[in-house]
Amino acid sequence: MRNGTDAALVPEAIENRWQVLKSEIERHNRLYYMEAVPELSDLEYDALMRETQELEDEYPALATPDSPTQRVGGAPIEGFTTVAHTIPMLSIDNTYNAAELAQFDARVRKGLDGPVPEYLVELKLDGVSMSLRYEDGVLVRAATRGDGVRGDDVTQNVRTIRSLPLRLENAPAVIEVRGEVYLTHPELERINRERDAEGLEPFRNPRNTAAGTLKLLDSREVARRRLDIFIYEMVVSSDVLPPTHGETLDLLTRMGFPVNPNSTLCRDIDGVVKVCEEWRTRRFSLDYATDGMVVKVNSRAQRDLLGTTSKAPRWVIAYKFPAEIAQTRLRDIVVQVGKSGALTPVAEMDPVPLAGTVVKRATLHNFDDLAQKDLRVGDLVEVQKAGEIIPQVLRHIPGERPAGAPPFPLPHACPACGSEVHKDPDGAILRCLNMACPAQRKGRLEHFSSRKAMNIDGLGPALVEQLVDRGLVADASDLYRLDREKLLTMERMGEKSAENLLAAVEASKTRSLARLLFGLGIRHVGSRTSEILADHFRDIDMLMAAKAESLTGLSDIGEVVAESIVEFFEVEENQKLIQRFREAGVRLADGEKAAVSGPQPLAGLVLVATGSLLNYSRDGIEARIKSLGGKSSGSVSRKTDYVIAGAEAGSKLEKAQTLGVKVLSEEEFEELVRSRSEGRQ
Ligand code: IVH
Repeated sequence: MRNGTDAALVPEAIENRWQVLKSEIERHNRLYYMEAVPELSDLEYDALMRETQELEDEYPALATPDSPTQRVGGAPIEGFTTVAHTIPMLSIDNTYNAAELAQFDARVRKGLDGPVPEYLVELKLDGVSMSLRYEDGVLVRAATRGDGVRGDDVTQNVRTIRSLPLRLENAPAVIEVRGEVYLTHPELERINRERDAEGLEPFRNPRNTAAGTLKLLDSREVARRRLDIFIYEMVVSSDVLPPTHGETLDLLTRMGFPVNPNSTLCRDIDGVVKVCEEWRTRRFSLDYATDGMVVKVNSRAQRDLLGTTSKAPRWVIAYKFPAEIAQTRLRDIVVQVGKSGALTPVAEMDPVPLAGTVVKRATLHNFDDLAQKDLRVGDLVEVQKAGEIIPQVLRHIPGERPAGAPPFPLPHACPACGSEVHKDPDGAILRCLNMACPAQRKGRLEHFSSRKAMNIDGLGPALVEQLVDRGLVADASDLYRLDREKLLTMERMGEKSAENLLAAVEASKTRSLARLLFGLGIRHVGSRTSEILADHFRDIDMLMAAKAESLTGLSDIGEVVAESIVEFFEVEENQKLIQRFREAGVRLADGEKAAVSGPQPLAGLVLVATGSLLNYSRDGIEARIKSLGGKSSGSVSRKTDYVIAGAEAGSKLEKAQTLGVKVLSEEEFEELVRSRSEGRQ
């Protein structure tokens, strides 16, 4: 008999095959991630993974915590539990120059009272610190730093990091190591290419992205973003720890951990300073971010002698790199017009290498900022990279201005359409108010067709530009009047592409109301707000008829957003646009109409939904509760009237049971709504 929960009943041949697959996959992980010499194509690798997964589906006893299938992530969780660190995760003191490094060295030597210490100098990796515990060689827990004493248990997410061994060979019974989780620059670019295709804003900073990724509740999503890790300390071992840090790093490497190869042993602090200065520029040749160096006393005995203060160990110091600044000539200031008409000055500069890339353009944010810095065409300027990603113009160098360079004039007319520009009442932004401005039209159309909005495949910026410039498309409703003949007059447009585009436009007619609302590009209405609006109103006519007060009653919608929505639909041109969508057959409503002012059977009740429901998404059930007059809450308390529990409900269900709160299945919830609607209560 096959019994998936009893390991003894997995046939030996199956178990052996699984063992072979597992060690092969781990070998290929090492070849790919650590040695950068892959032997398999992605397809071949996927086939090994698929076979392993199939064996585990049939014999669940094989799905151990160190199985490579753990790396693809598991079911989403509701939140992280916090765990106490065995040894507190302290921070490190910072230094910024050679003199401060020398002071550190003096303190260390004083503390040791005699011997000159050796230092091991490592890169300071700019990521998220992590504490990892292995028992009997198996990774059992990964926790973030948190407040240093307690952190979040992110084991499920950390298991997706392919360079991290889930099982160690010949390991002591217990070890705890520390390391830094990070994202490489190429991986951030890959993620951003995907986000761009989906119409999402790019992530700017690899550290923040790594931190955000580790906090995702869905580890399958984490697995899609290829995080990486370097291990740099061993803090607990049931065996004797090696006498020096250098030997500890060697041991970690032998155990199979990814250890950063760029560490240098220095005999004295002069050597340390030299290494730190060398890496100031060398770091830009790496494909991950470092924000300094970490200088560590090499001898374990000396470390123990020095001990720690309440905040940081006395045997380690960070050396932070100064911000990278470069000088270049400001060649021009151009003015860009966005989809909402905002004018943004952009600096065009002589190309200059800065923090690993060549910089030639930088946004100047707005005209107040520009005036305050008094930047003029021809100036010698200083540029800096903030967070080492986005270049910023800091200032102009006094005395380096070409004679007679005039201040940059505030534009009075829109550079795209020539109409008068106005200053926003609430800020520094200059705006073109002409809805017919071609630059705005292009921006709005690009937004409308983007992945997250109406998702019209093949309608990118280049085609939008042509369609608008040739007067074939003015607003989004014109897209639905395009035909083959018109399209064939476009550059680089063949029969096949024209057909594909028409099919994509046609397909977009059935997108959800939320996508259409987002696609309209109403100021302050992002995709999340669009979903809330669509869930509540379900029909664009209901939304158009709504007053600001009824909008602010919805969760997450404040006055500014409500005003912006009302104003948008007050504009006659926008009303006509919706009418033309209607005539073209674009879907303007989602299924059943909500009871916006209808019966409120759940009035006065507080409900919490948990687990995965059959008929609703999380947002969907919340919207339904609200539309029926109830209050939807995220946490269970004594004030909760009902908990609606779906499959795999976790801690909230337990809490409800502890507090004696009534728990409903999905059907029971529907029954409750029915009975209360009928006044049965
Ligand atoms: S050692 C007790 N080594 O920098 C010392 N930390 O600003 C434990 N960091 O919280 C840390 N690279 O997250 C160490 N090679 C390295 C590091 C490193 C980056 C981080 C770590 C720490 C932070 C302090």
